[in-house]
Amino acid sequence: MSTVERPQVGEAPAPGHAWLVGAGPGDPELLTLKALRVIEAADVVLHDRLVSRQILALIPTGVLRLDVGKLGYGRSMFQDRINELLVGFAAAGHDVVRLKGGDPFVFGRGGEEALALAAAGIPFDIVPGVTAGVAVPEAAGIPVTHRGLARSVAFVTAESAEPADAGTERVHDWAALASIDTLVVFMAAARATATASSLLAAGRSPATPVAVLVDGTLSTMRTELTDLGSLAERGISVQVGRPCTLVIGEVVTLAPRIGAALSAASGSRVPRSARIAHADRPAGG
Ligand SMILES: C[S@@+](CC[C@H](N)C(=O)[O-])C[C@H]1O[C@@H](n2cnc3c(N)ncnc32)[C@H](O)[C@@H]1O
Repeated sequence: MSTVERPQVGEAPAPGHAWLVGAGPGDPELLTLKALRVIEAADVVLHDRLVSRQILALIPTGVLRLDVGKLGYGRSMFQDRINELLVGFAAAGHDVVRLKGGDPFVFGRGGEEALALAAAGIPFDIVPGVTAGVAVPEAAGIPVTHRGLARSVAFVTAESAEPADAGTERVHDWAALASIDTLVVFMAAARATATASSLLAAGRSPATPVAVLVDGTLSTMRTELTDLGSLAERGISVQVGRPCTLVIGEVVTLAPRIGAALSAASGSRVPRSARIAHADRPAGG
């Protein structure tokens, strides 16, 4: 592994390689084997604020680690700076991992980073991650589709929940979204009320079940069940910095049955057959 220095203007060594890597929703066991292998071999890891402490602990000592979430991730000028760092380190000959929460291409701006790498002629690969959009509801016992309850699902961001966003972001077609069985709403903490109001105005019933999921898949996970009418009236209170996802639709009614049946320690359990394979198998078997 090389000693890593920040890229200097004027240097033109053979470029390194870049990887856009999904870290999953938080539970380190949801990191893929490929993601782990790539992280262990990198010179530099540029990571998001949402990548969990347990996953950051897997980055070997000596690898340069930068929290680019501190740059104010989400605003376009900061995204430009992240792109510059990513391209800059790789152009200087380093192998760079861009480690992102969930999947890099689901509300992760991974596409923009891929375009920046392609434009700069840097060789790169994408390592998919387990998206919070599916894994977080699952951890609460909510399947995003379910026979008889939901045949369609949409993943949306709460970011463009208000008409005031027109002109800066594409505003959602709420009438179209109101007709989809399950809505999984990302980045929901600050805009939950506006999201619920927009759906009600578009004709969705106030009785529609809603799950508010915070810190999904982590030991601090919190699940609150409510309905769309109450959400529009009362909103939610989520501590700043904690990730929050909403699930809206009839599938939420399964949470008490499936969620309650899940082992509290399900994250660390493995099927009995796997335990036998690893622990009880006779030598040479
Ligand atoms: C910038 S988006 C990134 C999504 C990510 N690329 C993915 O595929 O999961 C961040 C949003 O993902 C959701 N999220 C990520 N991790 C979460 C978790 N552990 N629990 C609840 N929501 C989570 C939240 O809605 C959060 O605001």
